Amino acid sequence: MLNPVSQDHRMPPTITSSNIREMVRNPLQFFQSIALEHGDIVCYRPAPEPAFLINHPNYVRHVLVDHNKNYTKDTYSNRLFGKVVGGGLLTTEGDQWRKQRRMMQPAFHHTRLEQLDGMIVESAQSMLDGWQQAFESNRPIDIAREMAALTLTVTTRSLFGVDLGDEVREVGEIINQAAADLERPSSPRLIESAQKFGAVIDRIIQQRKQDFKDGGDLLSSMILARDEQSGDEMTDEQLRTQVMTLMLAGYETTASTLTWTWHLLSQNLQYMDRLRSEVRETLGERPPCYADLDHLPFTDMVLDESLRLFPPAWTLGRRAICEDVIDGFYIPENAVIAICIYVLHRHPKFWDRAEVFFPERFSAENSRGRNKFSFIPFGAGPRQCIGNNFGLMEAALVMACILQRFELHSIPGMEVHPQALFVLRPNRDVMMSLHA
Ligand code: HEM
Repeated sequence: MLNPVSQDHRMPPTITSSNIREMVRNPLQFFQSIALEHGDIVCYRPAPEPAFLINHPNYVRHVLVDHNKNYTKDTYSNRLFGKVVGGGLLTTEGDQWRKQRRMMQPAFHHTRLEQLDGMIVESAQSMLDGWQQAFESNRPIDIAREMAALTLTVTTRSLFGVDLGDEVREVGEIINQAAADLERPSSPRLIESAQKFGAVIDRIIQQRKQDFKDGGDLLSSMILARDEQSGDEMTDEQLRTQVMTLMLAGYETTASTLTWTWHLLSQNLQYMDRLRSEVRETLGERPPCYADLDHLPFTDMVLDESLRLFPPAWTLGRRAICEDVIDGFYIPENAVIAICIYVLHRHPKFWDRAEVFFPERFSAENSRGRNKFSFIPFGAGPRQCIGNNFGLMEAALVMACILQRFELHSIPGMEVHPQALFVLRPNRDVMMSLHA
């Protein structure tokens, strides 16, 4: 065992009068203020189990990549997630996780994602047909609600195929309930809604397996998956757990990305104009497709800048299996490590005018020399998001479809702030007016 204080290492600064109530009330402000006051590593809760905030890209790399074997995902929020969905890809560890990741990876291969573009565009266009009436009668829309409904449809259809019909709505209502209950962990309904969620997914899996044909959807790909080492296929229980994981991990994160992007663009109309020009020049009137995504560089920059300022997965947690030393600071065994991505993405040492929405910072030229671990909206290392490309593809296609038809302006005087729940959500409805 190491001596916490020696010639080679020392204890990180510790907050003595830690205001845990403040952390629960407003974690973003709490983490931002302790990082500003105490530096890139700080112990914000000495007992019962010590917890450390790390806020330097090199420390992030240490925990998530270089020494990832010393850190597990055994944290409070992961246990809660596991209680709802069981041992899926997001929460398992070790060999079990490695085997699941190997089997799930092909579902996210670009040859599978390519097959989903038509469904995403069709879903977006059907939403836009619904907006036409609001546009004609000058009625504002709630963009947060619209993006959530759209990404729920897209997630459900990409998982199960387009033939789900009325069940999309049923699955939608159930998943919404489960996601809401995750935010109120003491709710007695948590287990009940998890069981309901599982039962609907089981029913869909059974139907699909009875008369199986590969529909290009993610569930088909998971049913077909065989572990290259053991030859095993996924059991029904594993299929259910993975489907629930993908729904919960994929739908609200993408909805949040799109909502914050519209919020930022509506406050920076010069960028909305530039995006519309890019979309018009690249696509004209024709609907976007997967192959177009390589030709919309400004769209990528806007999405990155939105993910920097409002990362949907605003925090990551890990637990140290053994004691460790990070850049000379002692970390005891069993310590909790928090990475607040929201605060890291606004670190003044790594981001010039960090609070300003400036998509050009993500141009190839301006990105040169940047520490890769200062921008981690999808995490890093082996546990990096498996749906990364899917989420970005969906967001870019939806943005292009919307911009071909409308511009969105915020309603004057409406203030929106981030709320750090299961994902980073706006604290209220986000009303916008539609312009041709
Ligand atoms: C813009 C949207 C998204 C964001 C910002 C996001 C963010 C993240 C982050 C930060 C992690 C790492 C968690 C950790 O290290 O503790 C993660 C993991 C994961 N995400 Fe995403 N995600 C997004 C979209 C999606 C989508 C669309 C899916 C699936 C359809 C998905 C499925 C997953 C899964 C299964 C994991 C666990 C991977 C593993 O541990 O092997 N995500 N995501």
